[in-house]
Amino acid sequence: MAVMEQGVSGLDPGARNAAAGLSIVAALAGAAIVAMLLAAPAVLAAWGVDRPVDALTLSLLAAGAVFMLLGGVIAVPRLGLGGAIALIGVLFWLCGCISFKSFGWVLGAPLLLGFLGAFTGMVSHDRRAADGDATLVYRQSGLTRLTHWVWAVAMFFLLLSGLQIFNARPNLYIGQQSGFGFDNSILDIYAVNGPNGPAGQTKLFGHTFDTTGVLGMSGAADRPVFTAFPGWATIPSYRDLATGRVVHFFFAWVLVGTLAIWLINALAIGHLWRDIVLKPRDLRALPRDILDHLRLRFAHGRSYTPLQKLAYFAVFVVAFPLIIATGLTMSPNFDATLPWLVDLFGGRQTARTIHFFTMLAFVLFFVVHIVMVVLANPINELRSMITGYYRTNVRGREGEER
Ligand code: HEM
Repeated sequence: MAVMEQGVSGLDPGARNAAAGLSIVAALAGAAIVAMLLAAPAVLAAWGVDRPVDALTLSLLAAGAVFMLLGGVIAVPRLGLGGAIALIGVLFWLCGCISFKSFGWVLGAPLLLGFLGAFTGMVSHDRRAADGDATLVYRQSGLTRLTHWVWAVAMFFLLLSGLQIFNARPNLYIGQQSGFGFDNSILDIYAVNGPNGPAGQTKLFGHTFDTTGVLGMSGAADRPVFTAFPGWATIPSYRDLATGRVVHFFFAWVLVGTLAIWLINALAIGHLWRDIVLKPRDLRALPRDILDHLRLRFAHGRSYTPLQKLAYFAVFVVAFPLIIATGLTMSPNFDATLPWLVDLFGGRQTARTIHFFTMLAFVLFFVVHIVMVVLANPINELRSMITGYYRTNVRGREGEER
């Protein structure tokens, strides 16, 4: 039976109390601030927090307080997991501060306390693992690490510049044609003039949603901006299709080059076969691994678990090739060279739609990826993707190192 984390008895009580206490105090301070923003803004105004708060900021701050509280409580029986959950709370709180554009001591206090609580939990959990039967193994080669961080940066620029390009024509179509004369649009983001003034709307597969504030119309009420995606989600933040295209195409080639280097290295050192391709025994172990992930019990072995292999296999074999191929299909130059690509994807408009939805899949992957890294012990995970060394302190289900 795999033991992922010891019970209370194996923990340093000082570290446990500090992690739990700091996270809970941060959560309570955070909850008090959220309550005052809602019910008594005058009190906060006296402390220098005097701008009106919107629903998004309030939700982010409230989620931050809830996760910090959860992390603090969970840190008592499971220090590492509690610290990780508190860190998720800290990240939510940080996003709330960014959305509120407030970095003063009032909102900064829960952030600092929560971070100290989360960090104490995670570091002492990692040090406890080092005191046990932990072994540091060399898990990620230099080129695996280098290419990973290059594509992480490239994906950031590709996403934001891609949304700038999308804003120039905020509709998606299925088929060969597009334009006012056709009714083959499946996504439409626009602004309307309603009875209560302008509003943002999104029409998806015939269903219309009010997306004021995020899609179609964003910005302050007295200075609304009528773009599909808001300025904070695009590069550049203002309307500039030409710069968006230059940035997008530059990082697209960076991504293609990086993936080529990753593939050559992964083939040469056996990373592809050992860590990414699912073998029959991985498929047999997959249901159990999914259950372990749902119970937040993560194995730490030399290679990835079956679910990790499946996720990374889908990224390398499906998502990256698909987003690159559909991107190339939209290039008139490339169409002239390989005209069958356009037919393969059912037309350039369909290729554009597939490109967009693959981007959404990447965003989903990214969110799950970061949550998993945080929950699985971010110090160990990040150490392996920075230095290459990973702590394997867990024996596999059959008693062997995995
Ligand atoms: C869009 C951006 C990202 C993509 C597409 C991505 C994708 C991937 C893929 C495919 C792998 C497996 C690599 C291999 O084995 O060759 C991986 C591993 C990893 N990534 Fe990311 N990643 C992204 C961003 C990040 C960020 C921002 C972090 C840091 C918080 C991160 C942390 C890690 C870690 C720690 C691993 C190793 C996992 C393990 O050893 O269990 N990634 N990522």
